[in-house]
Amino acid sequence: MAWNHKDLISIKDLDKQDILHILDVAKRMGPGYTPVADGKILATLFFEPSTRTRLSFEAAMHRLGGNVIGFADSSNTSVAKGETLSDTIRIVDGYADIIVIRHPREGSAKTAAEAASIPVVNGGDGINEHPTQTLLDLYTIQETFGKFDGLTVAFVGDLKFGRTVHSLSYALSHFDTKLCFVAPESLRMPEHYVSMLQRKGIEVTETADLKSVLPIADVLYVTRIQKERFMKPEDYDKVKGYYRLGKEILQDAKEGMKILHPLPRVDEINLELDEAEQSIYFKQAHNGIPVRKALLAMLLGLVDDA
Ligand code: CP
Repeated sequence: MAWNHKDLISIKDLDKQDILHILDVAKRMGPGYTPVADGKILATLFFEPSTRTRLSFEAAMHRLGGNVIGFADSSNTSVAKGETLSDTIRIVDGYADIIVIRHPREGSAKTAAEAASIPVVNGGDGINEHPTQTLLDLYTIQETFGKFDGLTVAFVGDLKFGRTVHSLSYALSHFDTKLCFVAPESLRMPEHYVSMLQRKGIEVTETADLKSVLPIADVLYVTRIQKERFMKPEDYDKVKGYYRLGKEILQDAKEGMKILHPLPRVDEINLELDEAEQSIYFKQAHNGIPVRKALLAMLLGLVDDA
């Protein structure tokens, strides 16, 4: 196993055995799991908006019997007075037992981990990575299909800025999967990710045509086109609403296909799809609880996970 059990900054910190082991620990973290984090404190430091990541980490810590401090808006902290990220982390290091950080800058979680003596978890660093989202995505896929090998996963939408796509595609490369990247030209998967996946022996196809992947995809992993990542509003306007999935996609979909989305959505999945058996994105979001309980317990050394 590759993981040092100190921090979780990148999905690349984990090898295939680490991933499978975390998913196994998460399966033991149901509502009946005995709390183990009595007296421990989680600090959630969110410099960017979040609903799922912050609240599911906080709920997970409460479910484990621990406590939570933190902020969801750094403008109310001493960052507004010019305090650096490293100094903020060095202070929180003395107040908490583990930190989850979300920050708009790529590499910020690594910077935080270097400044901290306690474990640091990356809750999303700019357009770079979102490893805990990946683990709950994998948990959902494994729960649904019982396997990863043999699956074709089609990523749809904003693959350039989509940190969830970057982390999940890397994780899936540990398995015998085929990946389809479906995006408009300006939001294609970055070339270095495509070539890295191909070097790992993964069959990759790229297209802008959603219809072409419907008959072959076991998983449609749909993503929001992220307005906040565009430097020029006119560039966003060119791709806004590029994919709007409605019930009509189900006619051509492969038998057993499931739709995942890290959420939030804007307009890329029509509400009419919510009730379809293929739509499992709300279940996926709720899987953040067992997965994040497992990560907190493992990083705090509270489970026998050898
Ligand atoms: N999927 C996800 O990261 O959602 P939030 O931005 O609401 O945390």
